[in-house]
Amino acid sequence: MTVTIVGHPLVAHKLTLLRDRETSTAGFRRIVREIALLMGYEVTRDLEVEQVPISTPLEPMMAPLLAGKKLCFVSILRAGNGLLDGMLDLVPAARVGHIGLYRDPATLEPVEYYAKLPDGIAERQVIVLDPMLATGHSAAAAVARIKRAGGRRIRMVCLVAAPEGIAAFEAAHPDVEVFTAAVDRGLDEHGYIRPGLGDAGDRLFGTK
Ligand code: URA
Repeated sequence: MTVTIVGHPLVAHKLTLLRDRETSTAGFRRIVREIALLMGYEVTRDLEVEQVPISTPLEPMMAPLLAGKKLCFVSILRAGNGLLDGMLDLVPAARVGHIGLYRDPATLEPVEYYAKLPDGIAERQVIVLDPMLATGHSAAAAVARIKRAGGRRIRMVCLVAAPEGIAAFEAAHPDVEVFTAAVDRGLDEHGYIRPGLGDAGDRLFGTK
């Protein structure tokens, strides 16, 4: 597996604003959307294009368009939806899947409560979205679900990753590249990334 840390100064700047506890819900939501757009630019950097004939107002020409089936974003509920908005600003025609997981309090393992994926997932570039790669268990379970549905070309985008999460995810899915804005120190005893940015879902949706 490869982990790409997107170190663009605008990404670093926006991530600092996200980490700041003083950032409001409205600000947090707007900045996640902006940073998603920048991460989306990186994760789609090597998408294939094909030459198609068009005519400018002055003459015909061959020009590049994205090749193949529309790509597919898969949001891991609920914080993935924050990243989804920015990704769709960038690729409005993309298909979208959603996967909902909760953690079983007894086993601490992720349990799926919702999954809806578009058709033809085997032929699509799939980009999985979850701002926090903490234990890595939810992301690994979501990718396993996508693979069971036929997904083969899969990438993962997060904003902050813990080394433990990267290790667990890599063990489960060595074929899936991870794009993140930062790798932090590690997890605390509650499974939060330190220093992190807190609970991404709560900060996005104002539930705390
Ligand atoms: N999920 C979050 O939203 N934040 C963390 O730090 C870990 C998991």
